[in-house]
Amino acid sequence: MKLSKKLEKALNDQIKKEYEASYVYNGMRIYLDDANLKGASSWMLKQTQEELEHAEAFVQFVKSLDGQVKLEDIKAQKTEYAGLLEVLEAAYEHEQMITKSIQDLLELAISEKNYAAENFLRKFVDEQVEEEDNFRDLIELVKFVGKNKAGLLKVDGGLGQR
Ligand SMILES: [Fe+2]
Repeated sequence: MKLSKKLEKALNDQIKKEYEASYVYNGMRIYLDDANLKGASSWMLKQTQEELEHAEAFVQFVKSLDGQVKLEDIKAQKTEYAGLLEVLEAAYEHEQMITKSIQDLLELAISEKNYAAENFLRKFVDEQVEEEDNFRDLIELVKFVGKNKAGLLKVDGGLGQR
């Protein structure tokens, strides 16, 4: 099974997006560390690493179909936020963008009848459901805690368990 030029380009765009997601989360991790939310910072470092693993999975997939991997420029990312809630809301928004991107990719793979790409991408559809669900739960939790410092520390401790 071969990759069309169009699908190869779209997969390379996704590789860039996965690296960019890692970069976004790294900015958040740095902010959370500065804000003394060590548990949340360590949670976000794991998220950063997970995105690198996603990027690597796409790299390997393109290579396995004899495609040409291209590593494009990634944008600068901010390292300052207004608090944990803002971080989580920004992360959730970012995941929704990634979900849309994976769905568009899957649609392309299906339209090209590239079943290998379809199978590969469906795993990421499931992954995105999980990612979005995680962030939604965390946002709810942090909203519930609100301005309660003790509650926030407890949440931070919990996040450190990841
Ligand atoms: Fe990802």
